[in-house]
Amino acid sequence: MRKKICAANWKMNKTSLEAIAFIEDFKKLLNFKTAVEVVIAPPFTSLEGASKSLKNSSIKLSSQNMHFEEKGAFTGEVSATMLKNVGCDYVILGHSERRHVFGETDDMIHKKIGQAIKHALSVIFCVGETLDEREHHKTFEVLERQLSLGLKGISKEALSQVVIAYEPVWAIGTGKIATPEQAEEAHKFIRKKVWDFYNMEVASQMSILYGGSVTAQNFSSVATQPNVDGALVGGASLEVKSFIEILKQMSYNFSGPS
Ligand code: 13P
Repeated sequence: MRKKICAANWKMNKTSLEAIAFIEDFKKLLNFKTAVEVVIAPPFTSLEGASKSLKNSSIKLSSQNMHFEEKGAFTGEVSATMLKNVGCDYVILGHSERRHVFGETDDMIHKKIGQAIKHALSVIFCVGETLDEREHHKTFEVLERQLSLGLKGISKEALSQVVIAYEPVWAIGTGKIATPEQAEEAHKFIRKKVWDFYNMEVASQMSILYGGSVTAQNFSSVATQPNVDGALVGGASLEVKSFIEILKQMSYNFSGPS
């Protein structure tokens, strides 16, 4: 189902106690009605604490990564079963930092998506071009490659477990959010590709989030674009006040004042 999502990617930030403190404060401030689904992605070590804190709340828990094998000799890695076991609903896969800093390939990301789906984890599948690729007019080519290889062989039924996040690499952590036109153009292209790979119904039900330098101050003109269904927020999700402000704005933009 196409839903509106406000997701926090904390990256390598927050100890378990800090994660719990954030969630407790956040729950107190979440005193308004919203049709927007909230997802929080702490680092691995904070998942268990966060999971306990999120019990009986509608906020979803996500991991930021996982391995594509079931189990075995993969030092430093975490499996889908482990994430399910600790209470994760989602896993972020293909984030640009995984691709560019840790050398993850489209093929690895594809295997991870399949494994997550097999274990009933929903996936936030990240795609996006670098500045160099954009400047060389390769944005669509890159998005098409990442989407076609990432989703290869994934059934249309399984796709209901997938959310796509468009995160232009040049906008991540730079303070330079995409313009509403740039975001809409990319999101529209992504939706069209999902249509081409599957069908119109599947494409119209796909949630496509924008990520890259989102703040409460700059997101509303992007959020109101027809193909933008929410945000994957990095830096501005680390403070309760700024993250709840983004959620409030999205709730207003997507469904009017609550
Ligand atoms: P920033 O919001 O810090 O630019 O990070 C975006 C991001 O990478 C979310 O996954």
